[in-house]
Amino acid sequence: MQETLPVSVRRLRVDDIDQVIAIEKEAFSPLWVSSSFKRDLSNKRANYLVACFDEDVSSEEILAENQAELTIPEEEQPAPKLWSRMLGRFGFPSNNDGSTIDVDEVFNIAGYVSVWYQGEEAHITEIAVKETLRGRGVGELLLIGSLKAAIDYGSKVMTLEARVSNFIAHRLYQKYTFKSVGIRKAYYSDNREDAVIMTTSPIDTSEYDELFDGLQSTYQGRWGRMLIEEY
Ligand SMILES: CC(C)(COP(=O)(O)OP(=O)(O)OC[C@H]1O[C@@H](n2cnc3c(N)ncnc32)[C@H](O)[C@@H]1OP(=O)(O)O)[C@@H](O)C(=O)NCCC(=O)NCCS
Repeated sequence: MQETLPVSVRRLRVDDIDQVIAIEKEAFSPLWVSSSFKRDLSNKRANYLVACFDEDVSSEEILAENQAELTIPEEEQPAPKLWSRMLGRFGFPSNNDGSTIDVDEVFNIAGYVSVWYQGEEAHITEIAVKETLRGRGVGELLLIGSLKAAIDYGSKVMTLEARVSNFIAHRLYQKYTFKSVGIRKAYYSDNREDAVIMTTSPIDTSEYDELFDGLQSTYQGRWGRMLIEEY
């Protein structure tokens, strides 16, 4: 079984934006026109959430601001090996002797989701997880967080567009009742791929509540934790 990542979902902060843009470019394209994260932070009809490593992991073991390289003092051996294993576990590159860890990108954000509220709809505009951390429950945690926020906001359904070829994303969405309701022809400008428009069942009903509770319990049972900041 994959090790649980110590991440929780919270609102985007200004300090996270550079990391989120890096994840966005990695997931979509270096040429992707970035979302207006900074401007939208204060937009009441937009909601940006991030999956963030726990403070104790990020600040003490990962984050070394403005450092391209983390060098661990010799007297702390064999601790560096521990660091190395720990960082390796989270998808960081590490060298072989364990004494020096090259961290060409230091991060504490594992993924993000952006949601726009339009009338009765909550529309996911983007969701992405850092490539090395995919398949470990982060995308699902972000989707749960955004659905919770949409339900609290009073939205009746959640919608999104996805590339017709993006089966991984389709599978994630289908778990949460998204179904295809139409196609936008040649929606993506890079290769003129069609987008499938997907919509959930109504999320403001007791039926959805029950289903959503069950899915969250399954998630919690599988990954051992499900931390989402209350808004
Ligand atoms: C789509 C994405 C956000 C999923 O995040 P993730 O952290 O990898 O997904 P999770 O580990 O939480 O998996 C959740 C569900 O996604 C689906 N999924 C994830 N990886 C999958 C894979 N390799 N094959 C098939 N389904 C997969 C499954 O339904 C999975 O649930 P399950 O484990 O119960 O089967 C991530 O792959 C990503 O960032 N992709 C690039 C950006 C992108 O395409 N965004 C969507 C735009 S519409």
